Order: sequence, then structure tokens, then C-alpha cells
Amino acid sequence: MAKLTWHGHSTCTLVAEAGATVVIDPFFDENPACELGVADISPVDYILVTHGHFDHFADCIPLAQSTGATVIGTFEIAAFLQTQGIENVHGMNIGGGHHFDGVGYVKMTPALHTGSVHGDETGAYATLAAGFLIDMEGKGFHHAGDTALTRDMELLRGQVDVAVLPIGDNFTMGPADAARAVDFISPKIVVPIHYNTWDIVAQDPELFRREVGDKAQVQILNPGESLEF
Ligand code: NI
Ligand code: MN
Repeated sequence: MAKLTWHGHSTCTLVAEAGATVVIDPFFDENPACELGVADISPVDYILVTHGHFDHFADCIPLAQSTGATVIGTFEIAAFLQTQGIENVHGMNIGGGHHFDGVGYVKMTPALHTGSVHGDETGAYATLAAGFLIDMEGKGFHHAGDTALTRDMELLRGQVDVAVLPIGDNFTMGPADAARAVDFISPKIVVPIHYNTWDIVAQDPELFRREVGDKAQVQILNPGESLEF
């Protein structure tokens, strides 16, 4: 079994079937939806970063420092982290995948969103936003990151058991577009994220559940709750 825990906003922990612990989009200390701090998060083998915005990246450097985890992100985010003294980085790019021990095959998927890097005062490391598709030896997991609805999502069909999709609107898909994304991706289970962190992304996840209907099982988690799959 794999275990997914949602910490609020876009931050998740995935414990892969093969044993590694993966934190996606670390945003703990200043995340109003999360009761945990960076100091509570350990051990961690890998940190996956969908993009460099504050609400996905703020605790990447502290968590990498405290756990020694390898950070996986775009080539530019990896290069920026090296300028900040983080040695264990693995740069990738959209459409590319790589096998990581203890996890499986991790592929960066397209996201339609902007991509500055929080903490980069030079602007030299601005990059594209992405999502991650993880093939855990036959069990598929997708974290969409921040994105608009795109037709490209249809390409994920058949590969995803659990999809984690933003529904907050304003910065990402809202509930109606996220429900159309479910139609494209066709996961067994979908977990809504990136909502109710602040008023600007306030949403009723039950509205999303109604929009999805019988296209997938909508698993609404409270921050700190988990699901096994
Ligand atoms: Ni963003
Ligand atoms: Mn965001």
C-alpha cells in the first residue's frame, strides 16, 4: 500500500509502496491550514517541487537542510537550490522522467501556470510550473501542482489511480474545471487541494464532489488526514 497525507494547501506526504517518504510542495511553517512545522517533518527521502511560488516552495530549503532529502524539480529550481548550498538536488524538465529508488518512475507533467522562484532575487531562475506523475510499480499517482485546465490532461488517462487536483480557483482551476480535468484524467480516486488556505481560494469541496458525480471517487481530506491506496 501507498499512503498519501494532505497537510493543507498543496503540501502532501506520499509514502511509496517501495518505502521512500516523499514530500510534495513543502509549505509548513507559514501555511495557515497546517498545524505541523518543518521541524516536525522527518525522515524524508525526496522533496518534489512543482514550481517555485512561495506557497509551494517556502520550506524547501529548511526541509532539505533538516532531512538531507534529495530535491527534485525543474533544472532551474535545482540550479537555484545549489546556489543556496543545497547539494542533493535532481533537475528534470517537463516530459522527462527518472527512476528513483524507493519510489518508482517520476515524470514531470505539463502545468499551465507561471513560474518565478521564491527567494531568487535575480530572477535568473524563473521556470515553468509542472506536475508529477509517479508510477509506483503499477500504481499511478498524479499531483497536478498549480494549473489551468488543459486538454493535455487527457494524456494521463489510464495511468492514474489517485489524482490530486487544485480546486481553489483564482490562481488555479476552480471546482468546475477541476471536474472536467477528472473527466480527462479518469482517476479512480481524486483528492481536492489548494483551497480554503486563505479567503481568496475559499471553496466548498462538496461542490466539486457534485460536479465530479460518478466519474471518480472524490476523497475529501482535512489537513493532516491520510488515505491508503
Ligand atoms: Ni503557484
Ligand atoms: Mn499555489
